[in-house]
Amino acid sequence: MKNDLLLRVIKGEAVERTPVWLMRQAGRILPEYRAVRASVRGFIELAQTPELAAEVTIQPVDLLGVDAAIIFSDILVVPEAMGLPYEMVEKRGPWFPKTIGSAADLKKLRVADPQTDLHYVLEAIRLTKKGLNGRVPLIGFAGAPWTIFAYMVEGSGSKTFSKARAMLYQNPDLAHKLLDLITKTTIKYLQAQVGAGANLVQIFDSWAGILPPDQYRAFSLPYLERICEAVTEVPVTVFAKGAYFAMKDFSRMACATVGLDWNMDIGEVKQLVDGKKALQGNLDPAALYAPDETLVAQTRSMLSQFAGSRHIANLGHGVYPDTSPEKVKLFVQTVKEFEIAP
Ligand code: CP3
Repeated sequence: MKNDLLLRVIKGEAVERTPVWLMRQAGRILPEYRAVRASVRGFIELAQTPELAAEVTIQPVDLLGVDAAIIFSDILVVPEAMGLPYEMVEKRGPWFPKTIGSAADLKKLRVADPQTDLHYVLEAIRLTKKGLNGRVPLIGFAGAPWTIFAYMVEGSGSKTFSKARAMLYQNPDLAHKLLDLITKTTIKYLQAQVGAGANLVQIFDSWAGILPPDQYRAFSLPYLERICEAVTEVPVTVFAKGAYFAMKDFSRMACATVGLDWNMDIGEVKQLVDGKKALQGNLDPAALYAPDETLVAQTRSMLSQFAGSRHIANLGHGVYPDTSPEKVKLFVQTVKEFEIAP
């Protein structure tokens, strides 16, 4: 591989500079993405067309100069493969016509077989690997069981996820059964992504922060742990948004890297994780709206705070769709030019 900075940092090897990529880098920030997207009916068709998914996966490597590609797909392909299809409603986000609320609903779900049910993602990974030709590593991903559960029970995004959280109190047994099914599918899915060529994988627990610590420990951590222990061929990154309280737990988990959102104090996380994991993050995505000088200063400040840890530069969450690609390039460039203190 020509640029394996990311993989070397994770292994704890010496690197010339900090690697950088952005969550949601393949997407609406790029006019080139919007052009491909306009050639099909919508997001789902794009994600299900391997040639096009591979093309938009590679775009940010060419256009933004990032040190990794992340396969263009969505975390919600997993519920669909289990028997719960979704729609992507323009400007509103994902929506599930049917949701899971009872044992009868659960009976209709299955543990998916990625080789058939998610064949299109695996094909997109194989095509992307060919197209990348070893330029940078390819990141595979899946949602954390708790986050996928939240969508399957709630049926859409939500400020409160009241239905999903109600189930944890009203029917914890059913909740655990659903989490178990999702976990089994996710393990097979991530292993299949690795088989198809993913060099590392990331688990997105986007809704970690809406649970109190005791419920997070009961309904999310054990399932994350099972996934980390089952995916042994490549390094695993856990990104749990808002789960400041679980940093010590992550430091003991069988993952290689922990992702930080922008609410987390870098110094404190360094202490909590104590060198046991590589750290990824965590610039405020809104800092990309700042004037150039401010963006450069904020990026350098972040890099200085991570000094002494194995660091992968990123934002603290996905890049916002109305961000200027020029600001993203400046962020990437600033990371690349930063001298790591000896
Ligand atoms: O990071 C990348 O560049 C790879 C692509 C990627 C997408 N979704 C494409 C996408 C990844 C890694 C995801 C993960 C994802 N999807 C998460 C976890 C990360 C996070 O943001 O917390 C979540 C929660 C979802 C669910 C989801 N998908 C939502 C809430 C939405 C609507 C909001 C939005 O950003 O539009 C999506 C749609 C989606 N996923 C789009 C893209 C490019 C936009 C669809 C479009 O092009 O119209």
